[in-house]
Amino acid sequence: MAGRSPADQLGTLGITAVYTAQVARWGGLRGAELFDLPAGRVVFWMTNLVTEMARLLVPRAAPLAVSILHRQACIDEVLRRAGVRRLLELACGLSRRGIAFTDGDAGGGPGLEAVLVDLPAMIAFREELLSRTEAGRAVLSRPRLRVVAADVVDADLDAIAPAGPDLAVVAEGLCMYLDAVQQRNLWRRVADLLRARGGGVFVFDLVPGPEQPAPGRVGRFLGWLMSRFTGGQGMVHDDRDRRRILAELVEAGFDEVECREPAEVAAAWSLPRPEARSQQLVFIAGVRPGAGGGVKRS
Ligand SMILES: C[S@@+](CC[C@H](N)C(=O)[O-])C[C@H]1O[C@@H](n2cnc3c(N)ncnc32)[C@H](O)[C@@H]1O
Repeated sequence: MAGRSPADQLGTLGITAVYTAQVARWGGLRGAELFDLPAGRVVFWMTNLVTEMARLLVPRAAPLAVSILHRQACIDEVLRRAGVRRLLELACGLSRRGIAFTDGDAGGGPGLEAVLVDLPAMIAFREELLSRTEAGRAVLSRPRLRVVAADVVDADLDAIAPAGPDLAVVAEGLCMYLDAVQQRNLWRRVADLLRARGGGVFVFDLVPGPEQPAPGRVGRFLGWLMSRFTGGQGMVHDDRDRRRILAELVEAGFDEVECREPAEVAAAWSLPRPEARSQQLVFIAGVRPGAGGGVKRS
């Protein structure tokens, strides 16, 4: 790796983080402009081109950019409504969420605190992009916004997370790359963390396999083409439906579990482009203060 820039070392999922950061910029989400770069715009438009071609063959599929924009804004709104004061964002990539969360001018607060975690090359790339501008350098020096280079699969979450109660853990754009065993391990560790902190909420996205439109042969070829183009690690598909996933969250130690389709709340929650079609599923799993058992609702 010696001599290679952070951008060269990103590989696998790094390019997908560049794409989702561009979605946030395109959607006008605050802070996203700090991660803008010409190559990112190429990734954005090329990915949209390929996925729109695939959509000609799979009309049931929703546009990717809007789906991710709705997902990002929906997760922000879940956090806002939960009134959380501390955020641990796993696999943060180039997410601007922690920046907005700790920005008093953007509805964040001086008392709010965030810790963002990703693999070392991504953290280095993130810091390289932020260090280009004065606004980015100001973000880097914010005391209540820390970044940690770690592998979320085995990191000590309790040691990394901001200290104190009212904690939210977010894992956006991650679970679809983990197999079922890895997902359950992560969920159990997050539930343990939240219970140790006296309660809190975990938010992540995952479109269950049975809800994904069947791509057909040509669609599969386009998917393969896109994964070649992005250098992307393949998504994991299995046959667990949303009820099964909710049940597994209860088994992992959460007391209250639910899932929401951002498209269904887009108008009521004033998400950007509320009229546009999207397909995402956001899971919200809570640990109640002092609760010991599991209560499932959906
Ligand atoms: C699709 S991107 C999502 C980035 C960001 N959460 C978003 O939604 O814009 C996936 C991210 O997961 C990170 N990632 C993948 N495996 C990881 C791991 N084991 N530990 C930490 N981060 C990981 C990648 O580096 C990448 O930044």
